[in-house]
Amino acid sequence: MKPITARTKLLGVIGNPIQHSLSPLMMNAAFDASGIDARYMAFEVSDLESAVSGARSLGFIGLNVTVPFKEKVLPFLGSLSPEAELAGAVNTIVFGGSPEGHSTDGIGAVTAIKERGLYLGDADVLILGAGGAAKAISFAIAEAGAEVTIANRTVSKAESLSNALISAGYSSLYCSLSDIPLTKKYSLIINATSVGLNGEPSLLPDLPKYVYAMDLVYKETDFIAKAKSAGAKIIPGLDMLLYQGAAAFELWFDEKAPVDVMRSALEAKNVDH
Ligand code: ATR
Repeated sequence: MKPITARTKLLGVIGNPIQHSLSPLMMNAAFDASGIDARYMAFEVSDLESAVSGARSLGFIGLNVTVPFKEKVLPFLGSLSPEAELAGAVNTIVFGGSPEGHSTDGIGAVTAIKERGLYLGDADVLILGAGGAAKAISFAIAEAGAEVTIANRTVSKAESLSNALISAGYSSLYCSLSDIPLTKKYSLIINATSVGLNGEPSLLPDLPKYVYAMDLVYKETDFIAKAKSAGAKIIPGLDMLLYQGAAAFELWFDEKAPVDVMRSALEAKNVDH
C-alpha cells in the first residue's frame, strides 16, 4: 500500500453503528491493487449534515452511506442519479462539484444474481420486506425484466412499494407475509428484512417453491440454512456487498474495479456478524 502523504485522497463510509463494516477492508484492498493513492475509513456519525459538508470541505473523493442514513442523506445532496431517485435512497456520494447521490445497491444485487446463473428476464422474484433495502433492489430487479412480488409484515408498505414499481412501468404484485401464494413457484426469494441479523428464525415456516434464495443479511441466516436444506441454489449476500462496492469504486475513479481482489479481501475475513 502506498504510504500516506499530503497527496493521499480520502474516502469513507458513514453510518451508525459502523464498526462491523467490511467496506474499509474491501476498498483499501481495491486501492492497493489499482495503485490508487487513497485511504477509506469508517465513520460513526450522529450529525449527518455536518459529516457530509465536512467531508466535502476536506476534499474527500466520495462516501458510502449506510444504515440509518440512506434516505436521510437526500436533502444534503445537490443531485441524484435516476437509480437513487427511484429508490429514494443513496448509498454512494461523489464529491467534486456539488455532491451527487447514487444508488449502487440495485446493480450490486442484480450483478450478484446474474453471476450465479439466474436469468431475470422472465423470472418471478419474491422479495420479503418493503423497507429501504427492499426498495433499493426491487427497481433494479424489475428493470432486469423480473415480475417482483413484495411481501411485507405491514401490508400497506408492500402495497406502496408495489405501486411505485407499477408507476415506474414495471410488473409487480404485493401481499402480506401470511398471504404468499404457496402454489406458485418463484425463481428467487430474497430476504430483504432485518430478520436473521441477530440469529432470529426465518420469517416464514412455509415458503412457496423456489429455485434460488438470497439473504441481504450476509452471514448464514436461518433462512439460508433452510433454503440449503430444501435444495435451493444460494446467492450469497456478500456478493451484493462486493458488487455495490465495485460499482461505487467505478463511479469514484472511472476505472474498472479489481473485483477479484475485493472478493478475496472479503472472503479472507471470517464474516460472523
Ligand atoms: P432496511 O433499511 O434495512 O430495509 P427498514 O426500512 O427498517 O430497514 O425495514 C425493515 C424491514 O424488515 C421491513 O420490511 C420490516 O417490516 P415492517 O415494514 O412490517 O416493519 C421488516 N421486519 C423487521 N422486523 C420484522 C419482523 N420481526 N417480522 C417481519 N418483518 C420484519
